[in-house]
Amino acid sequence: MRPQDLIRKKRDGLVLSHQEIAAFIGGVTDGSWADYQISALLMAIFLRGLNADEAAVLTEEMLHSGEVLDFSEIDAPKADKHSTGGVGDKTSLIIAPLAAACGVAVPMISGRGLGHTGGTLDKLESIPGYNVNLSLTEFKKTIKLCGFAMSGQTAEIAPADKKLYALRDATATVDYIPLIVASIMSKKLAEGLDALVLDVKTGTGAFMPTFEKARELAEALVATGAKCRIRTTAVISDMNQPLGKFVGNALEVYECIKILQNEDDAQMRSTRELSLELTARMLVLTGVEKNLETAKSLCEAKLRDGSALEKLQSNIKLQSGDIHICDQPDALLDNNLLQIAVKSETDGFVSAIDTKIIGQIMCNLGGGRIKTDDQIDHQVGYQCEAVIGDEVRTGDTLGVLFCRHTDKVNLAPQTLQKAYKLSQEKPVISELVKGSV
Ligand code: URA
Repeated sequence: MRPQDLIRKKRDGLVLSHQEIAAFIGGVTDGSWADYQISALLMAIFLRGLNADEAAVLTEEMLHSGEVLDFSEIDAPKADKHSTGGVGDKTSLIIAPLAAACGVAVPMISGRGLGHTGGTLDKLESIPGYNVNLSLTEFKKTIKLCGFAMSGQTAEIAPADKKLYALRDATATVDYIPLIVASIMSKKLAEGLDALVLDVKTGTGAFMPTFEKARELAEALVATGAKCRIRTTAVISDMNQPLGKFVGNALEVYECIKILQNEDDAQMRSTRELSLELTARMLVLTGVEKNLETAKSLCEAKLRDGSALEKLQSNIKLQSGDIHICDQPDALLDNNLLQIAVKSETDGFVSAIDTKIIGQIMCNLGGGRIKTDDQIDHQVGYQCEAVIGDEVRTGDTLGVLFCRHTDKVNLAPQTLQKAYKLSQEKPVISELVKGSV
């Protein structure tokens, strides 16, 4: 089957057969299709679309382009959470140990940050010594010993996605729902899960700015999970402002440990609330708890008695990290950073925050990646002081930037200031969990 024939067929709006999609993914995986041919077919798919059957076949073929993990020797039910990405979105670091403390095994394969959104692997690497490059044997052993493991995508898992994602990123073909679904689900289904909870973000810092688009993505993800016989549910959560108190790798780990230590900080409550919501859904989907109410009570109890923090500590030890940060999270932070307060220029209520701008400034200052091979400064970050609905006066602090001294810093405080919209009337505050599928 020649690539140009498949490209022509899709270019002309026709439906690709199972064998043709299999030939495409085979060619991506074994390198027999050139990048320009893959990119041309991706663009034809983006413009002409895939029907539900083509999308399901694409997901299956991408999943089977690599290994599907088998955790049948682990007795506990296996579940994971996947987020579509946001700013300050750090729930994985709470969910994995908390679910493990409640009896669910979590084989968490995570990614790095790209663009304005952060990635779990970068956050984990701010823990001194923490190894995110586990072999499959180490990955399984870690889950058996402490209930969860967090590692990067190995070459064995959905290799076709790795290649396709890089080309989609370079050819403006990322934001098409069937391609997003195939990409996310091929990786997650390869984890050998019984259940999957998806956190689809919506708002100014999300991949899907509108609720309608977020719901469409959530429905497509859940439908694909069901087709592949994995119990799947999706929560649509608010990303109209950063989640919790901090944005930035080390600062986000710091926030998670403070929550696991049961520190009650008003600005961290949204992180805690969403982490509990998503973990509770994992417990219900796996049958560990009957309903969301009892599941949330179990999560509260495991947080309160310190067992979730103990799980994190065991995992950090097994993944070669410095366990002292669990007692002294301050050790994660560098006191030599510049701290620049972003001040309000007027009086009023914070009514909107352009969250994407906060993520982009983090990248510009070295806290995130612009290109996939960029090195990052784990200490760069932002502390959110004012949230939507707060009343501020001229000169009040909206947030604090933590950064190194570079030329790029100069404009950052003014740009951040402009990310906040103030109004004279108190705005309606949106729910953190806006819906579920
Ligand atoms: N995240 C993924 O893993 N894939 C996509 O296509 C988009 C977001």
